[in-house]
Formats: sequence, structure tokens, C-alpha cells
Amino acid sequence: MDVTIIGCGYVGLVTGVCLASLGHTVRGVEKDQRKLKTLQSGHCHIFEPGLQDLLNETLANGSISFTDNVKEAVKDAEVVFLCVGTPPKPDGTVDMSFLESAGKEVCDALSELKNDWLVTIIVKSTVPAGTNRKLYNFLKQQVPNAYYAVVSNPEFLKEGTAVQDCLNPDRIVVGGESPEAFRMMRRMYDPLVKREENFMTMNWESAELTKYAANSMLAARISFMNELTILCEYYGADIEDIRKGMGSDTRIGPAFLRAGCGYGGSCFPKDVAAMEHISKQAGYDNLFVRAIQTINENQKKRFAQKIADKLGRPIEGATIAVWGLAFKADTDDIRESASIDVIRMLVEKGAKVRAHDYKGAENMRAYLKDIADKIDWVADPVTAAAGADAIALCTDWPQYTTQPFRKIAATMNSPIIFDGRNCLHRDVMRENGFQYYPMGRPPVEKELRLKQRN
Ligand SMILES: NC(=O)c1ccc[n+]([C@@H]2O[C@H](COP(=O)([O-])OP(=O)(O)OC[C@H]3O[C@@H](n4cnc5c(N)ncnc54)[C@H](O)[C@@H]3O)[C@@H](O)[C@H]2O)c1
Repeated sequence: MDVTIIGCGYVGLVTGVCLASLGHTVRGVEKDQRKLKTLQSGHCHIFEPGLQDLLNETLANGSISFTDNVKEAVKDAEVVFLCVGTPPKPDGTVDMSFLESAGKEVCDALSELKNDWLVTIIVKSTVPAGTNRKLYNFLKQQVPNAYYAVVSNPEFLKEGTAVQDCLNPDRIVVGGESPEAFRMMRRMYDPLVKREENFMTMNWESAELTKYAANSMLAARISFMNELTILCEYYGADIEDIRKGMGSDTRIGPAFLRAGCGYGGSCFPKDVAAMEHISKQAGYDNLFVRAIQTINENQKKRFAQKIADKLGRPIEGATIAVWGLAFKADTDDIRESASIDVIRMLVEKGAKVRAHDYKGAENMRAYLKDIADKIDWVADPVTAAAGADAIALCTDWPQYTTQPFRKIAATMNSPIIFDGRNCLHRDVMRENGFQYYPMGRPPVEKELRLKQRN
């Protein structure tokens, strides 16, 4: 099928490349010239495992191309995906300006083209309930003679495993009113539908709310475990044992129960905030989603405060090596990463930060310009830790677990690790001479031998 993707960011690019790899003809529209040029020269502007290989393959066989010309891109399209950002405004409401202008551009192009076949406009961006209906009505007014349908098709991929998720979706949710558009969607996704019941059609509002409900539920599970770490630390319990004990109950299941120093990313924080806002619009105060967010903010504060409390010296003037800036492993995405708040809090308390990440350092450096003089950007974790008063691990990159800890301990001013992702091994830390503070797990504490500073 002929597919157009408007917005080639994390979702649009992965969706476009995956659909091209399934045999569709895909044209990606990207208005950011830096990203567009990178894509046109055959390179991904984001890091996502497996994406570059698939891009090479699909560019080579001509099944994908990139442009900034919407009219040209939708000329032959049967489906047009809207994959633009829907970021949060400062008050938690959703900024719909990108979607509105992308919708308008597509609408203008369709009205000029006057195609005589059905064009299905697919809203893949995460949007508040009612958006697809509004878009449909807007199009009906603006281009009364065009033959089109609007469907909501929320995306459930996870950064870090986005290609795999896109090619093996748990389910495909399609919201709308047009049986013809549903059939078109079913045809487009045919190679990905392993079981018929995993292709779900519903009305627009149900599809839109499914996305917010799913993300709020996942964030709730993490926040539930995060709050439990307070009890674990007080009573001497181990959150990992509890996770296994709880997660093996088939009614609960094991996913998204890992405690840490707070969730982040481009989706959970904004979608939970949006859920609170759309609840307000519906006239009630959603206590549940408010609690999820409060717990998440507290958890980041608790982590930074724990560093200050257990450092064995005043935090003011201390040097903290921050391992991990991306919001999770296997991505360069730092949007709403917990490390942003942790770094800011450490700096506010007077610490100097030496920051390291495997993929996200460049993005974080651009983002934290206002406190650039308080941060050293370091190319490897061993150098970041040398001479530091503690390590604060904020991202679960697996590479952090295999560091030469004995060597690292010897070069630090004080060998202390605060493990904000519970990904290091307690025994390894003890055997290598570290004080070790995970989240909701018993620490390794002993008399600290501070080195003399010159
Ligand atoms: N990132 C995720 O993991 C994820 C997962 C599921 C759903 N979502 C949702 O998908 C949507 C997109 O998220 P993302 O992370 O891909 O955002 P992104 O910011 O990475 O990508 C959006 C892209 O759209 C481009 N763009 C904006 N307006 C445009 C226009 N008029 N024409 C052409 N290009 C335009 C931007 O330049 C940008 O490259 C959001 O609603 C998000 O909530 C994201």
C-alpha cells in the first residue's frame, strides 16, 4: 500500500521503516531540516536498536523516501499517518499545535489533489479523547468533497525495543466509525496480525482513552513499587523479593514492577498528566493519577536526598558521578528523564556533577545548558567516577553492571554507589569495597575510608 508518514521522530520513523520492510511504499515527511537531511543521507537521527539496518535495507530497495513536501508525499497515499509530537504544556495540558498544523497541511493537500479513492488519515500521536472526532469534523467542513476517513491508532511501542515492538505488536487498536477504513487498516497491518482477536476495532474515544489508560496503569505499577521502597527501607525488606513474590501471581504478572529512582520518558509523565487534565475537563478530580505523579516526584527527591544523607561528607562541594542520562537503556532519549531532576537537585545542593551516558549525553548537554558550568561531560564511566565522592546510577544500561569496580573504587575519593535502578549486585559491590545504596533493598554499609583531597 501507499503510506505517508507525517513526522519522522521516534514513532513515525520506526513505523515508516517497519511498514516499508513489510513491502509497503512509504514516504516520510519531516519538517525539521536537520533530521530530514540526516534521513535523506541514509542515517537515523535517533538511536534505536535495529533501526539503522532496517533503514539501510528499505532505502536500498526504494520502499522508503523522505521529503518535507506534504502535497507531494500524499499524492498517491491510501493512508496518511500523523505521528507528530503532542508534548505537555507547563500546566499538564496537551499541546495540540503540531497535530493541528499537520492535520491542516494534509487537509489542504487533499483538497487540492481531489483524489477519487479513500484516504485514511491515521492519528498515531497520543491525543485526548475527542480529538479524532474533531479532526474528522474539521475535515468534513474544510474538504467536503474529499473521500477520506479518520482513525485513531495509538502506538504502544517502547523506546529501546521499538522495532521489535512495532513488528510484533501485542495488539493493534483502531478507533473510528468507517468499516471501510477498518478494512484498510486490517489490510495494511496484515503481516503483523498473528491472531485475529489482537486486531481490535472500537470507537474513536475508546481508542484514544485506551492509550492513556495503558500508560497510566504502567506508571501506576512502577509508582506502587517505588512507594513500597519506603516501607522496605524502613522494615529491612527487599523490594526485589517482593517483586518476585507479587509478580508470580498470574493475576498481577511480572511486568513494570521494577522499583527505581522514578520513571521518565516522553510518554509516561505527559500521558499521566494529560489523564489528570482530561479528568478535570470531565468535571472530576482524578486522585489516582495525581498520586502516581506525586509519588514519582517524591521518588526522585528521595534519591537525591539519600545521596546527600549517606555521603559521609557535606554534599556542598562534593563531586557526584552520574551514570546514565537517558530515561532508560538502549535509547538516546532524555525527555523527562529522572536524571534531569536528580542532577538539578544535586547541583542545587551545591554538588558538582560528572555525567556519563552511552547514547544520551549529547541530548542532555543541549538540554541542561543553564547549569553547564556545574557539569563535566565524561566519555566513559570509569573516568567519570575517578576522584568522585559517589556514583549515582540513574539509567539501567547493562554495561554499568560489568565495570571494573575494584579499579573504580581505588580511584574514587569515597567508594559509594547509589543505585537508582537496582541493577548492580550487592555482593559484587561489597566484595569490591563499596558502600552500596539501592532503592528498597538492604544497603552495604561499612566504615568509610575517605581519601585525602589535595
Ligand atoms: N516516543 C515514544 O516512545 C512514543 C510511544 C507511543 C506513542 N508516542 C506518541 O507518538 C507521538 C510522537 O512521539 P515521538 O516520540 O515520535 O515524537 P518526536 O518529537 O520524536 O517526533 C515528532 C516529529 O514530528 C515532526 N513534525 C512536527 N510537525 C510536523 C509537520 N507538520 N510535518 C512534518 N513533521 C512534523 C517533528 O519535527 C518531529 O521530528 C506523540 O504523540 C507521543 O506521545 C510516543
